[in-house]
Amino acid sequence: MGTEPALRDELRELRLRSVRADRGGVHFEGSLTDGMRACFHSRVAQRILLELAAFDAPNEAALYEGVRSVTWAEHLSTKTSFAVRASSKKSALTHTQFLAQLVKDAVVDQFREEQGQRPDVSRDDPDVLLSLHLAQNQATLYLDLAGDALFARGYRTRHDGAPLKETLAAALVRMSGWDQQSPFIDPMCGSGTVVIEAALLASAVAPGLMKKQKFGFQRWASFGASEAAALQSIRERASEAHEKKKGALPRIVGRDVAASAIEVTRENAGRAGVTLELVQADIAVAIPEGAWTMVVNPPYGDRMSLTPKLLSSFGAMVERNSNPKKGGEGSSSVLCGTPELLEAIPSRPSKLVRIMNGDIECRFASYGERKPA
Ligand SMILES: C[S@@+](CC[C@H](N)C(=O)[O-])C[C@H]1O[C@@H](n2cnc3c(N)ncnc32)[C@H](O)[C@@H]1O
Repeated sequence: MGTEPALRDELRELRLRSVRADRGGVHFEGSLTDGMRACFHSRVAQRILLELAAFDAPNEAALYEGVRSVTWAEHLSTKTSFAVRASSKKSALTHTQFLAQLVKDAVVDQFREEQGQRPDVSRDDPDVLLSLHLAQNQATLYLDLAGDALFARGYRTRHDGAPLKETLAAALVRMSGWDQQSPFIDPMCGSGTVVIEAALLASAVAPGLMKKQKFGFQRWASFGASEAAALQSIRERASEAHEKKKGALPRIVGRDVAASAIEVTRENAGRAGVTLELVQADIAVAIPEGAWTMVVNPPYGDRMSLTPKLLSSFGAMVERNSNPKKGGEGSSSVLCGTPELLEAIPSRPSKLVRIMNGDIECRFASYGERKPA
């Protein structure tokens, strides 16, 4: 996806052990409390998964036996409902719905044989979410700790245009190398995801502090008094960290040419509890002087919107902000889904990373002084 190094660094800052990144994921070791901390604090992770078993699964029988080799009573009970998500890459078994069904059958058969009863399946609101990843015929089974994708922080009930996932926006802020002290701007802010994530980071609002629903692990049969106390202590420490930082925010500015975008950003920021400077302005209007960290995600896909005027204003804006020869004192980080936008910037990027925004392959290009992470 391209954001793995950002997640790796974030998890290391959380002092998790043996953190390492590979294509498509970041791994760490630790206790359930460590997993809870990761769910509570990570801004970048989509999901936090606990590995239960890994085995070869070139065919249905091997997959069924592999799933049966796990002692499911340690993770599920006849009183907890469950669901299975499955994915498959470069493997003989490809049909993900069928794979999920096969895992479910193996779990249920084990319960029936050992206890004469079985847990219910709830596709929409399971107590326990299992995950099967099949890659090159190698199966890995996981418990999903958060029980839900972590990007839905809850503040973005309205959006304008094509918003980034909150987790991707947080990764971009991190990858921009922002020091959380210099002024920050997104001049094409859309629904405000980037500027809101920047403000949440700078004021140390952990995503877990905003979460209204329970985490998945809170619904596990194994979640007892000591786990609840551990979660409470994670929450208290996070609140203390926020109290210490909340008063001292730098300028965080969101601009957009569309009045509707500014209105939606204002509402979303209000729900997130952060204060931003919001201005309706075209990118042709110069931003105030200063050493700004700019993170911007211009429109893409629709070639009609990439007019020569927009391309030249865009290139000039990035140059003015981050090319010292043009008086630029800041840094600019640009997430683009179309090459024309990067071609419109005369300077060469100091760093260029391939990032997947959902199904859209993008480039994240950094310009100017600040050394990106
Ligand atoms: C892809 S969206 C940004 C989405 C945003 N990152 C988010 O997560 O919500 C691009 C935004 O650029 C804005 N835009 C397009 N042309 C503009 C211009 N000339 N000046 C300022 N904003 C512009 C659009 O109104 C739109 O909100």
